[in-house]
Amino acid sequence: MRDRVSVLFTEEQIARRVAELGEEITRSFEGREICVLGLMKGGLVFMSDLIRRIPLDLTVHLVRVTSQREQAAGRILTEIVYSTSVPLEGKDVLLVDDIVDTGITLSYLLAHIHEHGPASLRVCALVDKPEARKIDVHPDWTAFPVHEPMADRFLVGYGLDWMERFRGLPFIGTIPRPAPR
Ligand code: IMP
Ligand code: MG
Repeated sequence: MRDRVSVLFTEEQIARRVAELGEEITRSFEGREICVLGLMKGGLVFMSDLIRRIPLDLTVHLVRVTSQREQAAGRILTEIVYSTSVPLEGKDVLLVDDIVDTGITLSYLLAHIHEHGPASLRVCALVDKPEARKIDVHPDWTAFPVHEPMADRFLVGYGLDWMERFRGLPFIGTIPRPAPR
């Protein structure tokens, strides 16, 4: 299966971007402790590289969200299915997201986190597909904005999956966009 994947961003490109983002984030949070909240599972690889590029005091937490498309009603149900227990109140939270596509997952998660009263809330995304947006949300930092026609391909690797596969690829690649189920 791996031979069907075309490379979009190499390991070297990713390492360079992660280092740049680490510097920007470090400058922005200087003197404060960051509460890093990683979005599972897609954001895990990115988060683990990124936190090693942020030489500040930080704590690490995880959250998992699933979305189910209710075909008949045309609705998308989003819910938090797992979260490490983390008191977010008064914390400077950095949410590390994998892909912002329609924005539905991210906007849901932001609303949920806001309810817990963090002092601040910023978002760092690995990939942003701004043309696919249905809800107007914007990450504060993005490693790789992906525009047409690449936004039309399905991204895998470096934590990103298709049907749980390809997460272990060290680069970000694409496969032909699978037909909607
Ligand atoms: P959204 O709620 O439509 O913004 O979807 C975001 C989620 O969809 C991400 O967290 C990914 O899990 C998934 N996703 C969207 N596009 C891709 C892709 O190209 N490859 C892998 N996962 C994707
Ligand atoms: Mg996924």
